[in-house]
Amino acid sequence: MKILITGGAGYIGSHTCVELLNKNNELIIVDNLSNSKYEAIKRIKQISGKEVKFYHTDILNEIEMDIIFQENNIEAVIHFAGSKAVGESCQIPLEYYKNNVTGSIKLFQMMQKHNVKKLVFSSSATVYGLNDNVPFKEEFPLSATNPYGRTKLMIEEILRDLYSSDNFWQISLLRYFNPVGAHPSGLLGEDPQGIPNNLMPFISQVAVGKLEKLRIFGNDYPTKDGTGVRDYIHVVDLAKGHLKALEKLREGHGCQPYNLGSGEGNSVLEVIQAFEEASNKKIPYEIVERRAGDIATSFADPSKANSKLEWKTKKTLLEMCADSWNWQRKNPKRY
Ligand code: NAD
Ligand code: UFG
Repeated sequence: MKILITGGAGYIGSHTCVELLNKNNELIIVDNLSNSKYEAIKRIKQISGKEVKFYHTDILNEIEMDIIFQENNIEAVIHFAGSKAVGESCQIPLEYYKNNVTGSIKLFQMMQKHNVKKLVFSSSATVYGLNDNVPFKEEFPLSATNPYGRTKLMIEEILRDLYSSDNFWQISLLRYFNPVGAHPSGLLGEDPQGIPNNLMPFISQVAVGKLEKLRIFGNDYPTKDGTGVRDYIHVVDLAKGHLKALEKLREGHGCQPYNLGSGEGNSVLEVIQAFEEASNKKIPYEIVERRAGDIATSFADPSKANSKLEWKTKKTLLEMCADSWNWQRKNPKRY
């Protein structure tokens, strides 16, 4: 299949490209490299031993996107491109609405113009808002608590409306839980700019000696040990979910959301313990105030993806930590 991947140089996109190439798909990657490096594209080719077509383009650029659709016989799109930092989205909301919502609308218009109506969209568990009634099921009411989350919710709504207007569209809304880990080769991984916001890259940088200690945001939550509980999912398992979602689009299923998570929750202290075991390094930490906007517990009910997509996570928390550590150790100065 000939697939356009927006944001394919990024963390989840690059891992998904490798899995798609392993199954002999032809890829056209569009990325403006605002949060990634060209090196990731080289490494996708290195791991897979296959060629990809790369366009250093912004999805907001209608002229260039039109040419890309004209030059390539695209059959489906996987849309990763977007901005993803929750805190930053509160400081520069207009940039987030422009890049995520306007960028997505322009992409969908381009798809419509070129009659490409198969789409896999990167949504997020953030669309369940402050809901603490775990596990999260696809049919739960949706809400958002910050501009980033609202962009994901808006794009989901736009896609539901688009499908209602034209049933030829086939759309999967993949709600990722907490993607972590890296490619087992140590060649691809998460490459955050500056000080990481998320737990696993922060712990990795403490382990490698770049950061002094982890700050645990609260130990007074109503959870097993008082620290926040999340559903961590290995990025390679997540990448494979995209292949299953694409297969389903070919069969035709309408516009469907799927939770991509393991169905298990792990606390911050459990993640630290697993990382220490995987890396043989001590992770110093201190307990600080809760982070604004965090919920106590989030984990998926993945049964819809398990049955309808025939997809299930395979990798354990220990493997996620081992691969994160391997990536960090081999790339101490990032890509
Ligand atoms: P990432 O930042 O590593 O990848 C996004 C890629 O999109 C980057 O390479 C960036 O340069 C590119 N990009 C951004 N704006 C663009 C534009 N206008 N035109 C072209 N390229 C553009 O992020 P990621 O972690 O790989 O996330 C991928 C998607 O999954 C995002 O939409 C994100 O919101 C969503 N998501 C991520 C997580 C997570 O925890 N990582 C969780 C849920 C959902
Ligand atoms: N945490 C710390 N210290 C840190 C970083 C995180 O204690 O330095 C804790 C958080 O309080 C939380 C857990 O570790 O309990 C996980 O935090 P992350 O920042 O790694 O992940 P979140 O669940 O807060 O958010 C992630 C993505 C969001 C997405 C959300 C739901 O960053 O974009 O999952 O998919 F919306």
